[in-house]
Amino acid sequence: MYVCVCNAITERQVRAAVDGGATTLDDLQFELGVATCCGTCAATAAEYLPGGRCSSVCQATSLTHPTAVAIADQTGPAANSFPIPIVKAA
Ligand code: FES
Repeated sequence: MYVCVCNAITERQVRAAVDGGATTLDDLQFELGVATCCGTCAATAAEYLPGGRCSSVCQATSLTHPTAVAIADQTGPAANSFPIPIVKAA
C-alpha cells in the first residue's frame, strides 16, 4: 500500500525506515520524502512511528480471540504479500 502517493513511498518503506531508527515525521521526510509535496500523507506516515496506531502490528502478543490463535497455527506463506502479524494467545 502506498502511504505517500506523491513520492510513491510504500508502507513497507516506511516500516523499514522506522525499524532503521526513524522516530519522527522529520526523520521520515528526510529519509523517504514523505509529506514533502502535498502533505496529505503526513498523518498516515506518523501512525507508523513509535506510539502510532500502526507501529505495533508486529508486537501483538496478547490477543486471545480464537481467530488470532487460528492465524498463529497456520504455517506456510501468506496468499498475498501483506505482512500478517503472527500472534499466539498468552
Ligand atoms: S501524498 Fe505524500 S506528499 Fe502528497
